[in-house]
Amino acid sequence: MLGPAAIPEVGLRAQALLQAALATGQARSDVLVGGMALLLVWLTARAVASIVRFVHMYYLRPAIDPRTFGSWAVVTGASEGIGRALSNLLAEKGVNIVLVSLPEPRLHEAAAELESKYGVKTRTVPIDLCRNVGPATFATIRAALEGIEVGTLVNCAGMYQPPAFLEELPDQRIQDMLIINSYVPTMVSYAATKAYLDNLSRSLDAEYAPFGVRVQCIWAAFVATRMTPNLTPSAMCPGPAAWAAAAMRQFGRETVIDPYPLHALVMDAGFKLMPKLSHRNTRRYSDEGRERELRAAGKVMASIQVQGHSPTRHGSPRRRK
Ligand SMILES: NC(=O)c1ccc[n+]([C@@H]2O[C@H](COP(=O)([O-])OP(=O)(O)OC[C@H]3O[C@@H](n4cnc5c(N)ncnc54)[C@H](OP(=O)(O)O)[C@@H]3O)[C@@H](O)[C@H]2O)c1
Repeated sequence: MLGPAAIPEVGLRAQALLQAALATGQARSDVLVGGMALLLVWLTARAVASIVRFVHMYYLRPAIDPRTFGSWAVVTGASEGIGRALSNLLAEKGVNIVLVSLPEPRLHEAAAELESKYGVKTRTVPIDLCRNVGPATFATIRAALEGIEVGTLVNCAGMYQPPAFLEELPDQRIQDMLIINSYVPTMVSYAATKAYLDNLSRSLDAEYAPFGVRVQCIWAAFVATRMTPNLTPSAMCPGPAAWAAAAMRQFGRETVIDPYPLHALVMDAGFKLMPKLSHRNTRRYSDEGRERELRAAGKVMASIQVQGHSPTRHGSPRRRK
C-alpha cells in the first residue's frame, strides 16, 4: 500500500515514463519520416537518371559511322521496306551494298538506285531464302561475297502472315514462315519468334564479342510498309525511311534496342508496367487483322466458326459480329 507521501513520487515517475515513451515514439516517427524522405530522393534520382539516359541515348550521343565496321554491308530483304531504307542510309555513308532478295526486278532497281544516288558499288544476290535453302544457296551467297570486306550484315528479309490459325494456312506458307521467320501463326506467336531472335542475338553477341564481332537485334514495332498495308504513316507508326533513320542512330550500340523513341517509351514501358493490358491489346490487334483478312476474302462466317475454337479465358469468342 502506498501512503499519501508516496503519491507525488509515483506521479513524477509516471511523468518520466510518459516522457520517455513519447521520446521513443518521436524517435520512431523521425526514423520513419527520414526513411521515407530517403526513399523519395532515391526514386527521384532514379527517375531523373532514366530520363537523362533516354535523352542521351536517343537524341544526344553521336551515331557510329558504319564504315568503321567495314566497307561492305550485306542487306537481306533489300528490295523493299525497311531493308531498302537501311540500304539507302548505309550507302549514303559510303558503304557498298550486297543486296539479297527474291529474284524480282525490284532487287535490280534497288541496286541501280544506290549506285546512281550515292556512287557506291553493289552486288545483287537474287535468291529465295525460304524455298530450297541448302548447300547451293550458301554457295551462291559465298560466291557473291568473294573478295570483299563485309563489315555489316543487316537481316531484313521477312514475311508476315496476317493473323490466322494453323488450320487456315496453306502448308507451303507455314513452311516458308518457319524458315524465314521461325514463324508459327497468330500474332502472339509471331512476337514469340521475334523473342527468339532477341535471345539469339544476345547469345551471339556475347560469344563473338572476343573476336570483335557485334550482333545487334534492332526491334521494330509498327512500321508502315508493304508488310503492314493497314497502317498509315504517323508519328506513332513511322514509314520505313523514318524508322531506318532512327535505327542508324543506334547502329552498333546496345545488343537489343528499340530505336524509335516513341515506341520505346510507349510500348516497352507499356509491356513492363501493364503486361496484361498490353498482351490484351496485342490480342485485339491480332483479332482485328485476322477479321479484316477474312472479310476481304469473303470468309466472315468462317472467321466466327474458327474463333469458336479459340475460347478466351471466359470460354467465349471475344469479337463476334
Ligand atoms: N513493318 C513492320 O511493322 C515490322 C514490324 C516488326 C518487324 N518487322 C520485320 O522487319 C523486316 C522487314 O519488314 P518490312 O516491313 O520492310 O517488309 P517488306 O516491305 O515486305 O519487305 C520484305 C523484304 O523481304 C524480302 N523477302 C521476302 N520473302 C523473301 C524470301 N523468301 N527470300 C528473300 N527475300 C525475301 C522482300 O523481297 P520482295 O520485295 O522481292 O518481295 C522484301 O525485300 C521483317 O523481318 C519483318 O518481320 C517489320
